[in-house]
Amino acid sequence: MARKKVTIHTLQARKAAREPITMITAYDYPTALAVDQAGVDVILVGDSLGMVVLGYPNTLPVTMEEMLHHAKAVARANPSALLVGDLPFMAYQADLAEAVRNAGRFLKEAGMDAVKLEGGQEMVSTIEAIVRAGIPVMGHIGLTPQSLHKLGGYRLQGRTAVDARRLLEDALALEAAGCFAIVLEMVPEPVATAITQRLRIPTIGIGAGSGCDGQVLVLHDLLGLFDRFTPRFVKKYADLHREIVRAVQAYCEDVRSHRFPGPEHAFSMDPEELAAFQVMLEAFPAPTPVEESK
Ligand code: KIV
Repeated sequence: MARKKVTIHTLQARKAAREPITMITAYDYPTALAVDQAGVDVILVGDSLGMVVLGYPNTLPVTMEEMLHHAKAVARANPSALLVGDLPFMAYQADLAEAVRNAGRFLKEAGMDAVKLEGGQEMVSTIEAIVRAGIPVMGHIGLTPQSLHKLGGYRLQGRTAVDARRLLEDALALEAAGCFAIVLEMVPEPVATAITQRLRIPTIGIGAGSGCDGQVLVLHDLLGLFDRFTPRFVKKYADLHREIVRAVQAYCEDVRSHRFPGPEHAFSMDPEELAAFQVMLEAFPAPTPVEESK
């Protein structure tokens, strides 16, 4: 039986009931089907797809068209989970009207339920404009990978009291601007916990400890499908990269040793049609084998 559709109100109720929210990324139809069947609350079509699916060095090259292409595939799985499309770098930073239009494309063209964007107080007017257009917005503060170069790398954020206070102020500003939830990425656990306790909206942590209202991981990290690097905050639940190599090696060995395809994978033919075909074949002699040049 299909689950009840998860909405932004479901997430709010989870926070009130202190029931942890589960969020995971997915970027295509089969993984969306699988994670939804597993019962996840939120599916994020994250711009992390640039790294784990498209092989870019970071998330900066990801375009709106690439995001929409993957978001549409996820939506075709018709998940019960809340679907969040991640606004990629330069889809919302330069211009308010462009930000609203791009956010709208996720709902109008790609079947998403909400969008996510990165940044703190500097993003308030953008968030307000998108929310005014009727589009739910998830915030994202702490380590914001689209600001990789400004931050000087993938580093823990909010280490000092002053930086931690600024993060709290960012979170309160995002809540006031109308965000329905906020991702806290790579923030010390006590800072994430303090922010969570001071917000009415849920926080979803990644590398932010256990005090958040929910947790999110990149699917390919959790499955061991992306082996370029694994951040310390990731818990690997499978080693699918190794499993894929093993399976494809076994397939190659089977083909090379004539074990695949077997009779169970082949199709036979009506004996009379086969006999007639064999007579016809006499008019088509097989070529004489060419000798391999040395
Ligand atoms: O793009 C992404 O996958 C994300 C998560 C890490 C929160 O933003």
